Amino acid sequence: MTPEEIPLKSDATVSALLEENRIFHPPYDFKAKAFIKDASIYERARQDPQGFWAEWAGKLEWFKKWDKVLEWDVPYSKWFIGGKLNASYNCLDRHIKAGLGGKKAIIWEGEPEGEQKVLTYNEMYLAVNKLANVIKSLGVVKGDRVAIYMPMIPEAVVAMQACARVGAIHTVVFGGFSAEALKDRILDAQAKLLITADGGYRRGKLIPLKDISDEVVSQCPCVVHVLVVNRAGHPVNMQSGRDYWYHDLMEKAKVYCPPEPMDAEDILYILYTSGTTGKPKGIIHTTGGYMTGVAATTQWVFDLRADDIFWCTADIGWVTGHSYIVYGPMANGATQIMYEGSPDYPQRDRFWRIIERHRATILYTAPTAIRSFMKWGTQWPEQCDLSSLRLLGSVGEPINPEAWIWYYHYIGKEKCPIVDTWWQTETGCILISPLPGLTPLKPGSATRALPGIEAAVLSEDGKNIERGGGYLAITTPWPAMLRGIYGDADRYKETYWTKWKGTYFPGDGAKKDADGYLWLLGRVDDVIKVSGHRIGTMEVESALVDHPQVAEAAVVGISDEIKGQEIAAFVILKEGNPPGPEAEDMLKKHVVHKIGAIGRPKTIIFTAELPKTRSGKIMRRLLRDIAEGRALGDVTTLADAHVVETLKQKYESEGQT
Ligand code: WT7
Repeated sequence: MTPEEIPLKSDATVSALLEENRIFHPPYDFKAKAFIKDASIYERARQDPQGFWAEWAGKLEWFKKWDKVLEWDVPYSKWFIGGKLNASYNCLDRHIKAGLGGKKAIIWEGEPEGEQKVLTYNEMYLAVNKLANVIKSLGVVKGDRVAIYMPMIPEAVVAMQACARVGAIHTVVFGGFSAEALKDRILDAQAKLLITADGGYRRGKLIPLKDISDEVVSQCPCVVHVLVVNRAGHPVNMQSGRDYWYHDLMEKAKVYCPPEPMDAEDILYILYTSGTTGKPKGIIHTTGGYMTGVAATTQWVFDLRADDIFWCTADIGWVTGHSYIVYGPMANGATQIMYEGSPDYPQRDRFWRIIERHRATILYTAPTAIRSFMKWGTQWPEQCDLSSLRLLGSVGEPINPEAWIWYYHYIGKEKCPIVDTWWQTETGCILISPLPGLTPLKPGSATRALPGIEAAVLSEDGKNIERGGGYLAITTPWPAMLRGIYGDADRYKETYWTKWKGTYFPGDGAKKDADGYLWLLGRVDDVIKVSGHRIGTMEVESALVDHPQVAEAAVVGISDEIKGQEIAAFVILKEGNPPGPEAEDMLKKHVVHKIGAIGRPKTIIFTAELPKTRSGKIMRRLLRDIAEGRALGDVTTLADAHVVETLKQKYESEGQT
């Protein structure tokens, strides 16, 4: 696929993006107090990237300093070689030693209204230490994997930090994933312990995480114990000898657990993300480089100050929750808001009420949420006092200029810079973003690479494009970069390092404008973004063909006003199975069962044939055109051009355009 065929945006939107020429300068006040107000940082980093990153690594506390900053044996990087540190120590002990134990770490709201909890750094420290001892008592040792399947409650953060403290590798599975998806991840990681809860609330409904876990654990011989937080008082089965209540074991746990000295290159966590095959990739992040990357970028991009109340609305099941709730802000001793539920519960003003109640100063959320807020109307934010906000952030997908302007005007009241942050599960930390006290903003552009990061727009054959469209590339290594794919070394090389020599290929299309600003245009591979959540078209296809009635399936992403993209599936049923609304419903349920609600196709189009090239490759672009109701382009490479015409007519007659 070429960048001209990028599926995310229609051509009209792309040109609108590029015509967007309003520029917003940092407000004088913001700039005056900003953490970074001197552009020389970029040049300094470029002159000596290793020295630059070492300076930032040095702001963490190391048990032993590294001997060498970087070893770069393409595509394998090692950072801060020989250094020893502990992530939990850097997020907790360090602040307590500095006298900040009484500072609020987490201000939590449950979804049911009125439910609130505050944890200071002292309280967090105590809980993490105790849980670390509990984890150890359950037989977990350094290097073991621990799966975490939890709602957005403080115990989820405690669980991640406790793993880090004992050197166990956590793998967090988003609470919205199905039993099957949980099982695949537990088995791939060979997790020994599963930490879950009886349930969590989402839009007034209880998600029975322990019941789902029960289905899974019986099929995962690697899991020895299950630790269960009593979050909701939901009745659950506790298998004697295998399952334990969190509160029971915590009550008896010792109050101090020495932090395990970890090698800089020891794995901190594995996080699964969708790729271009049916099987999600276990992205590996290590300790020293990752912590350096997230700690530094939290400071620069969010201009974090001691008295900020930072709110990242992501779930800990995604990398944003890892890097900008659990590790980056906590490494900086920040006070954070954490919210369990949905933005429209009990009403569509929930986010704004939370900001008003806790005087949030920084809000970091996703374009899909902003577009929902736009749709719900300005009356909701207008009824709340948002005057505490001083900075806004966006992440997960391209933000369209209209949403940007709405966010700027109605939420930021034209006094808050917006940081549009581009990064990925693989990159560990933000790589492309404005520096809010420095960078003039263009709505829809993530502006430029951060200091110490080199991004370029390249053509298919690796030529640098100074102005115009191509593929995004990261041309030098960075500390928080992924170190591999768990259990699949070849896939790591193939996916990211074969397109160009020595240059990281993120899979995104990008354009560079006359000012050198980058405009990210979405994925150019078979990965789509539904409400900012990454999902592989092949993953949904695998789920569909897993159904006994399905012969063949092809899945594409289609544009959606709120979600950015939606899933459309073309399905060939096996002989004798009637297509129709019942079959559609059945298959949607099947996908939800296999993956979770985020994989549910919006539409399923039954067909007798799929458009293929002569070499047998499904022509997804054509399917997208059909599903989005666009005119058909060149179909001469089709095995049977007639197929497409039939499909198109069928689609139109069903009124799905
Ligand atoms: C993909 C990575 C980054 C943490 C959450 C998502 C898209 C992300 C932006 C942005 C345009 C963006 C890219 C990227 N993306 N941020 N600011 N502008 N696109 O992490 O699930 O690993 O997804 O999200 O396509 O490749 P992820």
